[in-house]
Amino acid sequence: MKKIAVSSFKGGTAKTSTALNIAAAFAKFHKKKVLIIDFDAQANLTTGLGYDPDAQDSLASVLQGHKKIEEIILNTDVKNLDLIPADTWLERVEVTGNLAGDRYSHERLREILDPLKYDTIIIDTPPSLSWLTESALIASDYSLVCATPEFYSVKGLQRLGEFMEKLSHRHPLEVIGVALSFWNPRGKSNKAFQHLINQTFPDKLLQSKVRRDVQVTEASIHGKPIFEVAPKSRAAEDYKSLSKELLKRM
Ligand SMILES: Nc1ncnc2c1ncn2[C@@H]1O[C@H](COP(=O)(O)OP(=O)(O)O)[C@@H](O)[C@H]1O
Ligand SMILES: [Mg+2]
Repeated sequence: MKKIAVSSFKGGTAKTSTALNIAAAFAKFHKKKVLIIDFDAQANLTTGLGYDPDAQDSLASVLQGHKKIEEIILNTDVKNLDLIPADTWLERVEVTGNLAGDRYSHERLREILDPLKYDTIIIDTPPSLSWLTESALIASDYSLVCATPEFYSVKGLQRLGEFMEKLSHRHPLEVIGVALSFWNPRGKSNKAFQHLINQTFPDKLLQSKVRRDVQVTEASIHGKPIFEVAPKSRAAEDYKSLSKELLKRM
């Protein structure tokens, strides 16, 4: 079982879209049994898969010891793709109840996920360097870094790189790759961006880039992965090659 945390510490870098669509691609085209975890109180992934975040329990209830993990796993319309939804209780869960006084609370998620039996678990994280993000990274084997071809996004990767470097002294964590979304193949600064990314994460920039495509948003409005709504779109094509490339690196 391999676990991937999708992270960037920033909003709008396509973390949630990437997590959802590579998870769906693993399940649909590679026969993997996949669990996708919404670990962001904003619950965009939960809505993106057609669920109402206020109607189910999130990992907050498991972290607090009120529920067993098996009780909160939901099926999705995609065969072999399960979801653990998010809700607003995730926000500040670390200062609530029995987690508040626990020095090792960062390890909880890893322990909770350990007994599960999936081929791949993909964790979507909030746009900040919070307890949730750190717990997700500690629970994971790999981190998939998301960025957009914009100067502030690429520069922000340095901080993420330093943070992960520090974390990897305590926990084995490998950056599986840097995924660029909103890609414009004719962008004037593409070379400069790729060069900057290579400085922070040498050899990690993934070949497959996800081009800008309104179908990504359209699909999430329908509560479905892109392959169900626009299977012939260019983003569907890009997510397919991205997932193949990731599987090769795992
Ligand atoms: N390749 C893309 N082309 C066009 N829009 C995209 C693409 N990827 C994501 N989006 C849209 O951009 C917004 C932010 O993406 P999201 O995945 O929620 O980012 P994050 O989770 O990093 O905040 C969403 O409305 C999403 O539908
Ligand atoms: Mg998100």
